[in-house]
Amino acid sequence: MTDVDINAVAKSFGATPVLSGITAQFGEGSFTSLLGPSGSGKTTLLRIVAGFVAPDEGRVSIGGRDVTGTPVWARNIGMVFQSYALFPHMSVSDNVGFGLARRGIKGGAAKREIEAALELVRLPGYGARRPKELSGGQQQRVALARAIVTKPSVLLLDEPLSALDRRLRQEMQVELVRIQRASGLTTIFVTHDQEEALTLSDRVAILDRGRIVQIGAPAEIYERPKTRFAAEFLGDINLFEGIAAGGDWVALADGRLIACTGVLPPDGIRVTAAVRPEKIAIVSGDKAIREMGRDAGGEASREAANRLEATIASVVYAGAALTYKAEAAGRTVTIFAQNSDARPHAVGDAVTLVWSPGHTVLVEEDRP
Ligand SMILES: Nc1ncnc2c1ncn2[C@@H]1O[C@H](COP(=O)(O)OP(=O)(O)O)[C@@H](O)[C@H]1O
Ligand SMILES: [Mg+2]
Repeated sequence: MTDVDINAVAKSFGATPVLSGITAQFGEGSFTSLLGPSGSGKTTLLRIVAGFVAPDEGRVSIGGRDVTGTPVWARNIGMVFQSYALFPHMSVSDNVGFGLARRGIKGGAAKREIEAALELVRLPGYGARRPKELSGGQQQRVALARAIVTKPSVLLLDEPLSALDRRLRQEMQVELVRIQRASGLTTIFVTHDQEEALTLSDRVAILDRGRIVQIGAPAEIYERPKTRFAAEFLGDINLFEGIAAGGDWVALADGRLIACTGVLPPDGIRVTAAVRPEKIAIVSGDKAIREMGRDAGGEASREAANRLEATIASVVYAGAALTYKAEAAGRTVTIFAQNSDARPHAVGDAVTLVWSPGHTVLVEEDRP
């Protein structure tokens, strides 16, 4: 069931459009990340859902009720900001209970709710402390407890982990997913961190300059990016520019053909095909190439795999993985390989790059 429904929302600050044509649905109990670079409009969109910012156009519904004109306090949302924004002069209990007090819930009833919320974020017994007596991770858990204690219908999180160091951040990611699952709250999570978005969410919405360019399950947006921006923002990718050449074929500038998946435009139209570096295998020797041809046909069980003759230009050793750069007819291709070969390829080696047409997806060029 749809819980949050954003319909054709637009917002400008002065003459600058910050969001345009934002339409998205968020299912009940789902965890969706809004992912985009700094300035892409993530915070503004979250603040529109919360009610801190009014959209110029469009509607927002929560739980089937149009809340476009409803003030923040009447929307029943819980929000955690990038800076924890705890009240420093108040105890942890009073911080967590702030929203309850405002709703007139006091005494034993409030105490029970506060304790349950502190239990959920694994800080039982911390109620009497002051925020400054807590670590960054603990403060962020208090902020989370404060956001969920009022049993909101939607939880909005604006880069809540970005102030934490790497290790704590990873711990808190696990905690956040646990708390979200346990509470069943519909959650919208803002981040500019690709890996965080992919690992935490059911769905990811990618924002590029105030528009959602793609929304889908993590694997879907990673494996099937729709635009050049989405492809490049989600990690390393090889882009092959060419022209549609009939069937599934793309002709590169030097006349080589690569096969791809998806619907190609009419012959002669310029297209860009994208391949993730870990999808490409490096093989040397005729036999190896024949073997690969069979396997690399991949999901579509195509008889022919894509092949490019190349020369290894660099190898970066990172323990578990190796990153190769290979020169193939004037273009540099990046390949990620597991460090499992007895003898890795060396700079100068003549090799063949082999990959499946099923892993070769067409991406749209970004709008100007
Ligand atoms: N209150 C405001 N007044 C004017 N411009 C703003 C305001 N809030 C945000 N902006 C501008 O809107 C754009 C998007 O901001 P924001 O939503 O904070 O992006 P993000 O969270 O993705 O970094 C930025 O260019 C920012 O400078
Ligand atoms: Mg922001």
